Amino acid sequence: MNYIKTLEDLLQYGAKKAGYNEKLSVSFSDKKMGCDFQCNGVFALTKKYGKNPFDIANEIVNNIDKNDMFEFVVARPAFINICISDKAFARGANFMLEDEKGGLEKNEKPQKVILDYGGANVAKALHIGHLRPAIIGESLKRLYKLLGDEVTSDVHLGDWGLQMGLTELQLFEEGKLDYYFGKSNQEYNLTIEDLNEAYPLANKRKSAEEDFKKRAEEWTLKIQQKVSPYYDVYKIIRHLSVKEISINYSKLGANFDLWYGESDASEYCSEAVEIIKSQGLAYESEGALVVDVAEEGENIPTDKTEDGQQRFLNPMPPCLIQKSNGADLYATTDIATILMRNKMYKLDRIEYVTDGRQKMHFTQVFRVCKKSGISPEGQQLVHIINGTMNGKDGKPFKTRSGDTIKLEDIIGLLTEKAREKLKSNNASQDDDTALIIGVGAMKFGDLSNTVSKDYVFDIDKFMSFEGKTGPYLQYTVVRINSILEKLEGKEGGEIHIYSEEERDIIRNIVKLNSSYAVCYRERSLNGLCNSLYDLASAFSTFYNNHNVTNESDEVKQNSYISLLKLVRKKMLQALDVLAIKVPKKM
Ligand code: ARG
Repeated sequence: MNYIKTLEDLLQYGAKKAGYNEKLSVSFSDKKMGCDFQCNGVFALTKKYGKNPFDIANEIVNNIDKNDMFEFVVARPAFINICISDKAFARGANFMLEDEKGGLEKNEKPQKVILDYGGANVAKALHIGHLRPAIIGESLKRLYKLLGDEVTSDVHLGDWGLQMGLTELQLFEEGKLDYYFGKSNQEYNLTIEDLNEAYPLANKRKSAEEDFKKRAEEWTLKIQQKVSPYYDVYKIIRHLSVKEISINYSKLGANFDLWYGESDASEYCSEAVEIIKSQGLAYESEGALVVDVAEEGENIPTDKTEDGQQRFLNPMPPCLIQKSNGADLYATTDIATILMRNKMYKLDRIEYVTDGRQKMHFTQVFRVCKKSGISPEGQQLVHIINGTMNGKDGKPFKTRSGDTIKLEDIIGLLTEKAREKLKSNNASQDDDTALIIGVGAMKFGDLSNTVSKDYVFDIDKFMSFEGKTGPYLQYTVVRINSILEKLEGKEGGEIHIYSEEERDIIRNIVKLNSSYAVCYRERSLNGLCNSLYDLASAFSTFYNNHNVTNESDEVKQNSYISLLKLVRKKMLQALDVLAIKVPKKM
């Protein structure tokens, strides 16, 4: 059920009959305009046909067969306004209530997609940088699926880099690995706390102690070469860390189909490098193997700076695919991962969600894959760049001491805040409810912004039970649930339109439905968030002006009940895409 498409078809038909072979697009109109949809495209025909646009618009409208669903009105200078009849809207509402997908249409050509939006690093705590990709990626996955794509999500753990060598070396020096290295008979049981302490320490030492860094690099290479006991200890660390990571992701409602990591692609690294070499794309530079990926307009030499260095405008350095000591690099593991994925599946798209710091990395990786044929022609490789989450000072959100915040701590903060809110509302403050509200508030606060934009993490604003917030939407559904519970035993009946307020609800549902396609195209959920809020507001206005529970006219009450069910169905569908749960009570 797609009003816009139907209207565009009708207009095109009318235009053709009147002698204008044109496609005219239709959009929702502002409520103030007094109509539901509008077409502004007639102006564009003035020049081509040398006629007054008002006359053209009238000719087109006069050539459309009249029906009882739509009314076309031409307004000066040349707008075509379209009103949907109450009867047609009511019919639409009844259909949406019955229809499994609530009137939502799937894409014509479903695609097979892998979505990579995890990126948590083994041995390191999940931090705020992993938060937005998890929120956005999970929702995009759900959106793509709802519209018919076949989507597989992959967490793509960062488990093959220097942090492993650093952590292991630190633990080794603390004597915690003595058993594995044959220095003690007593096995020390490593815990997640050991890891959480070891990595930050090692990371600091890396910058201060050159020798420590060098040894950590050698250590990392031994792990990558699967040498015992380095690799065995690595497996223990990985296991501990992944357990912790999965708990945090599940609190966020991010679910991954595949729990692969860079390490899983490692066995494809040499094959990938061979493919690239065999195409003559790789050459040696300062001992490392590199591939030129710059395109026209990039690497334009500028004047040398005072230090005599050559600088470039629009720089795109070559992609490093092998280090001089033979270790796999970040780019190599991503290229190998694309090779692996293409061996496993036939994919139309591979998409990644990360922040802008990885822009160059993905540009290089994608170009190497395209040049070498590791990514077949026609396959789309997409990097979705999320803006950063800032503090109220406009800088990336940090702790008071200036450290990056752990994801766990943010979730704790949100849950605590939700608990306070529930307390002041005299509602039950159980853990589940607090987590659902806290996380829901943050997700909605995040997703209602365009994906690429930075935004301010304002916990008080996000957590408000009024206004455009997650809790307000959750509360709307909780309220509908409780009204319908009170009316239990009454089935509901056909939806009719008795007042402007019901009409407005249905209009907003139609708008909500059409926002999915826009979000899909833009790879951003903000449009869906806006439409969802508009629907909740329309419902609220209706509910404040109608006494649903005490309505004495049975036909009317049954119509109200069905309308409430429809609102709930559409809200739950959208909240599910946003991966926001609804508590039982709040
Ligand atoms: N592990 C990386 C990090 O924490 C993010 C991984 C992003 N995904 C990818 N396929 N490279 O920075």
